[in-house]
Amino acid sequence: MNALPKDGIAWPELRAQLQDAGKGDVDWRGGRVPMFIHYAGDDVLEVAKQAYLMYFSENGLGLRAFGSLARFESEVVRMALTLMHGDDATRGAMTTGGTESIFLAVKAARDLAKQRRPGIRTPQIVMAQSAHPAFDKAAHFMGLQPVRTPLRADFTADPDAIAAAITEDTVIVVGSVPAFPHGVVDPITEIAAAASAQGVWMHVDACVGGYIAPFAQQLDPSIPAWDFSVPGVTSISADLHKYGYTAKGASTLLFRDADAFAGMGWFFDNWPRGQYFTHTLVGTRAGGAIAAAWAVMNYLGEAGYRRITQRVLDTRAALQAGTARLGLETFGDPRLSILAYGSPEVDTAAIGARMTERGWVVGHVTEPAGFHHMLNLTHEPIVGRYLDDLATCMAETPPPSRSAPLKAQY
Ligand SMILES: Cc1ncc(COP(=O)(O)O)c(C=O)c1O
Repeated sequence: MNALPKDGIAWPELRAQLQDAGKGDVDWRGGRVPMFIHYAGDDVLEVAKQAYLMYFSENGLGLRAFGSLARFESEVVRMALTLMHGDDATRGAMTTGGTESIFLAVKAARDLAKQRRPGIRTPQIVMAQSAHPAFDKAAHFMGLQPVRTPLRADFTADPDAIAAAITEDTVIVVGSVPAFPHGVVDPITEIAAAASAQGVWMHVDACVGGYIAPFAQQLDPSIPAWDFSVPGVTSISADLHKYGYTAKGASTLLFRDADAFAGMGWFFDNWPRGQYFTHTLVGTRAGGAIAAAWAVMNYLGEAGYRRITQRVLDTRAALQAGTARLGLETFGDPRLSILAYGSPEVDTAAIGARMTERGWVVGHVTEPAGFHHMLNLTHEPIVGRYLDDLATCMAETPPPSRSAPLKAQY
């Protein structure tokens, strides 16, 4: 069992231990990880790190003390709202990540619905089969019922199935930009129309797409609208620590108007230490994550994000073309940075195990069985190497003899 060392250990020794501990980790810089990392170049990383360190000790809970953080957060939120076609009425705040943004969207929707429709029994979340588990987690923690609807043949959410699943207890309907399993963009206009026809809150989970879809749309206007330009969209979660390329611990949660935003916050004063208010689930927040978000957004600007987005989309296209040459079909029509592909003719689990032996962390999608990638610039130079290894592993693996369901880890 570990215990605190009797005496402290000097920093050089600890630094050496920290370096040593990481030696067994997978080489993310070498593009070996299919998710978890969002790298946009050493220069961007350096800006994020320096800004983070400058505000390392400051606390986002104490905006009264740290006017700097209050200013950074408000500028980050306004940049986000502008990017996502907000107007004078739209509002928002930063959170520490996608799951927290989703929790708070669900809470705000639940509170507003209960206020306006007091007859609600167990409040429901209606969403497609592909929506992120954070919604079920939120439902579990906050006493809501998750209702999942089947996908269409192209793996997108089915607005008709969603419309049919809405009941008088539904407090929030979800669409994803993109949905994580297949990387496809849900039909937000149709889902929002179905929700607003029944007076229900519509949340767009753009945790992945929030800071890449706007630039992908500038490069390819055929990508459909999904943000506040779509009538009926009530809230949007968009993670800065993914395609905003900022330090981890940063997301944005944005609302159509002040009434919707009101439910994000929480106020308390029934204790001996005065008034307590946060917009977030957490109390203390890393000042560094707020400062890094502000710095990276200003460092990259629109042109920087657009340039990186083009490279990520090109990487996806190269991987898509290469896997197609190996006889693997892309699932649906991914328009952004996530790609899933496979074939019933190949033993996905066995090939994945061989790829693991060759030093790749393999991402799997289970319905249908296949491989999964959320791409960033670490993948750009290694697509060829990955495809070579995949071809070798496929050649070494006999076709599947039985179709046991594939188990996958996130
Ligand atoms: C679509 C989607 N929503 C929400 C999340 C949750 O984000 P986080 O891991 O930052 O809590 C993710 C994470 O990958 C995601 O892909």
